[in-house]
Amino acid sequence: MQRNNPLAILYSIISIILQETRLRIYLALSIGALILGIVAQVAIPLLFKLLIDSLINENKSILLVSSYGLIWMLSQISMSLRELLMHGIEQRSSKLLMQKIIYKFYHLPLQYHYDHSLGEYIDILQRIQRHVPLLIWGSLFYLVPVLIELVAVIFILLRWYPLQYSCILFITISLFLLYTLFITKRALIARHSAIKQQKKTASTITDWLSHYELVKVFGRIPYALQKISHALSKRELTEVKALKLFDFVRIGQSCILGMGLTCLSLVISDAVTTGLLTPGDFIMLNGYLIQFMMPLGMLGYIFRDIKNAFLELQDVFKIIDLVSEQSIKNNCIRLTKPIKVIFDKVSFNYSMKKSILKNLSFTIEQGQTVAIVGPSGIGKSTIIRLLLGLYRPTNGIIYLNVISLHTIPPEELYKHIGIMTQETFLFKGSLKENILFAQPDTTETELNNILSQAQLLPLIETLPDGLDTCIGERGVKISGGEKQRVGLARLFLRKPTIALFDEPTSSLDITSEKDIIKSIMNLKNTTKIIVTHKSNLLEQADITIDLSSIDFSLQPYVNANYSDSVVKTEI
Ligand SMILES: Nc1ncnc2c1ncn2[C@@H]1O[C@H](COP(=O)(O)OP(=O)(O)OP(=O)(O)O)[C@@H](O)[C@H]1O
Ligand SMILES: [Mg+2]
Repeated sequence: MQRNNPLAILYSIISIILQETRLRIYLALSIGALILGIVAQVAIPLLFKLLIDSLINENKSILLVSSYGLIWMLSQISMSLRELLMHGIEQRSSKLLMQKIIYKFYHLPLQYHYDHSLGEYIDILQRIQRHVPLLIWGSLFYLVPVLIELVAVIFILLRWYPLQYSCILFITISLFLLYTLFITKRALIARHSAIKQQKKTASTITDWLSHYELVKVFGRIPYALQKISHALSKRELTEVKALKLFDFVRIGQSCILGMGLTCLSLVISDAVTTGLLTPGDFIMLNGYLIQFMMPLGMLGYIFRDIKNAFLELQDVFKIIDLVSEQSIKNNCIRLTKPIKVIFDKVSFNYSMKKSILKNLSFTIEQGQTVAIVGPSGIGKSTIIRLLLGLYRPTNGIIYLNVISLHTIPPEELYKHIGIMTQETFLFKGSLKENILFAQPDTTETELNNILSQAQLLPLIETLPDGLDTCIGERGVKISGGEKQRVGLARLFLRKPTIALFDEPTSSLDITSEKDIIKSIMNLKNTTKIIVTHKSNLLEQADITIDLSSIDFSLQPYVNANYSDSVVKTEI
């Protein structure tokens, strides 16, 4: 569904609310409270009229007196109850919408993430938090009740009173609305420019104050004061203009309401003196006029907020409507060990402008160690990304055994492929949580083994709470080499059939490097594809793929004992 019109956006938000039973109950209850409130609001002036008339006729009715008070109480309680229930609905629907967006984030094609910054996505989430509650409250619980109440009052007037009263009410309301919408628009523009000017003034003052040494040394204090005073005067002007316009909103509204009240009072008082209407009618009609004008006074602002919310939420629904990464339907595909990796004339480029890999062909048998070398930016990590299925070759095919890699469902692929990335991602949490992120169901003994293989035990001994020490954001900072060891531990925990390493020892000292290489090489039956520049690792490789040759898109150097494992290269 195209969701660029307000009704479609509102519909989408309501359908989110209707998804959860609890929200459905809350919504039903708050609509009940809303209806109760509307009925009570409309009934109050009517009861007041009946009460006054009965008192004038010296006919005191206990029932009327007490029901007047009760209905008033009911109207107040139903309003508070509505708000109480709404908070839950507003916040839960923002949460559900945010969850939807975050789910989408993980399922969008990689290209989307490269084309958009994370900041844009965070901004979208903030918009949801800001605007969804406002939109639900403004449209469902402000606009709708105000309109229903107005219609109810106009109906009462048309049904039981001469047409001229409804006309006066209608004209007053129309003038009130037109004036409110027109002047609040101008008042809001003035407020925006006042806010802008405030920011400019603040930055001017910060500028001149922070360079106080320069100002003093050059003897230019009067000049700086003059600049600051100029900025302050501008702020003063725009602020006063905005405040004045807001006062005008209220003055104009009071004038229109006053004129409406005067006209209505004049015609009703005539009718009261001629005995056509009672004093109770006089009070009731005045009551309606005042009671319903008050919420309309806010209409300009709320209308602006709702309009703004619709605009801001359009982008949110554009993301939901984006096509997710194509899911692989072939759920029955299973990879069985041993797995042979075959690159068959694989070419790849991220964009049309630059070709990264060209006609790359090689075969890796299960258990082999392959080193990928070449200068920075040549495409080493790209080979790893292709093997992870994050991109599809522009030309050619990557096979795992006889199965084309892009037809293997991700869950099956990632059961067999493990990665140690160039940068280790650490989230806020304990070191243990960070490591077990790779394989949560690991036993303590297994974990201890892995910690020793990844050379993490010396680090853990120095940490204040050992494995439970909080690392990452605001936690204990750990060094680049230590991060790499965490990355390795994660990979070891996965026990992959094919292990991909992107510069696994780049931040390690010589001793640690030796130990880590030993641990890596201990993964005997695992195919190890390693991007590296370290001679220690190169020496251990069965195959070295050197991407640095100028003439060849791939210039593999093959160790003697595995010469037949490199299939083809092309110029
Ligand atoms: N998502 C992307 N979109 C466009 N170009 C990219 C993208 N990722 C990488 N590149 C470009 O592709 C080329 C190869 O990148 P790759 O990350 O494979 O290099 P690398 O050989 O691993 O380099 P390094 O040794 O510095 O890690 C580089 O020129 C890089 O700028
Ligand atoms: Mg790289």
